[in-house]
Amino acid sequence: MPEVQTIRWGIMSTARIAAKVGQAIQRAAGAELVAVASRSKQRAQAWAAEHGVPNAYGSYAELLENDQIDALYMPLPPSMHAEWTIRAAQRGKHVLCEKPLATTVADAEAMAEACRQHNVQLMDGVMWLHHERTEWMEQVLASGQLGQLRRVTSSFTFNWPQWPEADFRLDRSLGGGSLLDLGYYCVRATLWAFQSLPAEVWAAARYYRNVDVNLTGVMFYPHERIASFDCGFDTQFRRTLEVAGTDGSLLCDDFTLPWQEAEASFRVRLGRNRVSDYRLTGCLQEVRMIERFGQCIRSGQLNAQWPADAVSTVRVCEALDRAARTGARVAVS
Ligand SMILES: NC(=O)c1ccc[n+]([C@@H]2O[C@H](COP(=O)([O-])OP(=O)(O)OC[C@H]3O[C@@H](n4cnc5c(N)ncnc54)[C@H](OP(=O)(O)O)[C@@H]3O)[C@@H](O)[C@H]2O)c1
Repeated sequence: MPEVQTIRWGIMSTARIAAKVGQAIQRAAGAELVAVASRSKQRAQAWAAEHGVPNAYGSYAELLENDQIDALYMPLPPSMHAEWTIRAAQRGKHVLCEKPLATTVADAEAMAEACRQHNVQLMDGVMWLHHERTEWMEQVLASGQLGQLRRVTSSFTFNWPQWPEADFRLDRSLGGGSLLDLGYYCVRATLWAFQSLPAEVWAAARYYRNVDVNLTGVMFYPHERIASFDCGFDTQFRRTLEVAGTDGSLLCDDFTLPWQEAEASFRVRLGRNRVSDYRLTGCLQEVRMIERFGQCIRSGQLNAQWPADAVSTVRVCEALDRAARTGARVAVS
C-alpha cells in the first residue's frame, strides 16, 4: 500500500471548542495532533497532558516556529483570526480557522490572499457542510424536485440565562455578537442553497453592550427569491433550515449539528402529501471535516471554493450588521 502522508496539526489556544476538534483530529484518518499553544504555558501544558498532546507552547508565535506542523486549527476570538492566519500562512501552515472567518471583509480578503500567495489551504470551521447529510440535501436541491427555489428560512439560537460578561461573544472589539457567532451559519446555509450572494439585505437587532444579542435578517435575491433568518443568545436551542420551492420543501430541524450526533435526518415534502424522510447514521461532521481538509492538502490541489465561500459569508454579515445598525436596506457589493 502506498504510504499516506499524515497531516500534523497544532491547535492555537485552549478554547472550549478545542477539546472537541482536538479529539476529532485524534480520531481522523491521516491526522495527528502534535502541539497546542496558549497565552499561558501552564494552561498549554495542562491541556496537553489532559489530551495526550506531546508539545505545549506558552505563546502562539512559538507554535508557528515548529517546522513539524503542517496545519493549524485556530479557535481564537474572531478579531484575532486575521493576524494569526496571515502569520501562519507566511510560515507555510495550512489553516482551519474557526468561524466567523473574520470580522470585516477587508480582513477576510487579506487572509484568503495571504493563503493563496503562500500556497496553503484556508477553510472556516463550518462543520455541518462536511456532514454526509449535507451531500444528500445537495442532491435533493440539484434534482429540481422542489421546483423553482423561492425561500430559505433558518434559525440558530441558544439561551443564556445570564449574560457571561467575560465571554468574547459579548465584546464587540473581539468580534462578538449573535450575527457572527450564529447568524453566520444561517447566512452560509442561504449561500449554499441559492448558490449566490443576495443583492440586498435588511436586519433588525437588540443590543447589549453594543453587541447584537438577537438579530433578524432578510436577504433579497433576484428571480423572486428571498431568505430570512434569526439568531440570538436569548432563545432556547433552535437550528432549523427550510428550503422551499414552487413544488416542495426540504426541512432540517438541526442543520448545524444533529440533535443525536449518531443519527442525522431531514424531510422532503412534495405537494401536500408526498413526504420522504431521509436518515443516515455514523457520520461525525468534525472528524469528516478534518479528513476532507487533510485529503485536500495531500492531493496538492488546494480548494479555492472554501475560502471564497467564507469570504462571501463575511461579506453578507458585514452588510447585515450595517443594515441592523442603520435601519436601511444595504446593497451587498
Ligand atoms: N465550529 C463550531 O462548532 C464552533 C463552536 C464553538 C465555537 N466556535 C468558534 O471557535 C472560536 C472559539 O470559541 P470558544 O467558545 O471555544 O472560545 P473560548 O472558550 O472563549 O476560547 C477562546 C480562546 O482564545 C484565546 N484567547 C486569546 N486572546 C483572547 C482574548 N483576548 N480573550 C479571550 N480569549 C482569548 C484563549 O486561549 P489561551 O488563553 O489558551 O491562549 C481562549 O481560551 C470562536 O471563533 C467561535 O466562534 C466554533
